Amino acid sequence: MNAIKKLCTLLLLALLPGLAIASGAGVQLDKAPLSLQDQASLQRGAKLFTSRCLACHAASYMRYNRLHDIGMSDQQIKTELELPEDVKVGSTMQAAMDANSAKLAYGIAPPDLSVIARSRSADWLYTYMRSFYADENRSIGWNNTVFPDVGMPFVLADLQGEQVLAVEQHEGHERKKLVLKTPGSMQSAEYDGAIADLTNYLVFMGEPAKLVRYKIGWIVLGFLFILFLLLYSLKREIWRDLH
Ligand code: HEC
Repeated sequence: MNAIKKLCTLLLLALLPGLAIASGAGVQLDKAPLSLQDQASLQRGAKLFTSRCLACHAASYMRYNRLHDIGMSDQQIKTELELPEDVKVGSTMQAAMDANSAKLAYGIAPPDLSVIARSRSADWLYTYMRSFYADENRSIGWNNTVFPDVGMPFVLADLQGEQVLAVEQHEGHERKKLVLKTPGSMQSAEYDGAIADLTNYLVFMGEPAKLVRYKIGWIVLGFLFILFLLLYSLKREIWRDLH
């Protein structure tokens, strides 16, 4: 028994450094309020994504008609996402800007965002899109606390407004904090909500089968429950004769 305990402790100790690395040093990430069951939120996220992000980024593993899974009809996809005439609902999401011009303009090609939620995590994305601040030392005019010296200009500044990085003294330590200097067209809570929708959508896009899996999960649970009731009545039936 003792040997097993020791083994477990050793295993736990061996895992700890991995956990520390996985949690990431440095910036504190905010928890993304995800709800993959919320189709209205996923649709708002899809709209924000196609109107604001596809200018530079592609999502080349994602076809427009996979938005059927979040309750959008072909007609809604065409009109609400303002698909250009030459783009079919069966096409993959391509960037408006070609990768070479983008590289010339920003020094680095904007990466494909199809599976970004898996490589970066939802919390990272949720925090990143809310952590841009004006920085006059950068040629693009923007910096980001989660992604220092980022090559992406803050394309949602009209919504969030302009944040600056304020340095405060706190019990002898310097503490950096983002402060909203010029408001945008959205209130803070409203902007956080829009980014939650966008993050929700990016998570769905990275793993659309997740929605199907949820459904299968409930069906399996329902099946097990019925099986339990049947077996239980069978057991009572058998034991009644034996008593
Ligand atoms: C004007 C062009 C442009 C637009 C529009 C744009 N981005 Fe970017 N984005 C970039 C560039 C360039 C980079 C590469 C930055 C770098 O690596 O320094 C980038 C990087 C990123 C990254 C980090 C990727 C990584 O893991 O390295 C994410 C996430 C991202 N963008 C999300 C978005 C989202 C979401 C939108 C829409 C709201 C958006 N971007 C709109 C240009 C753009």
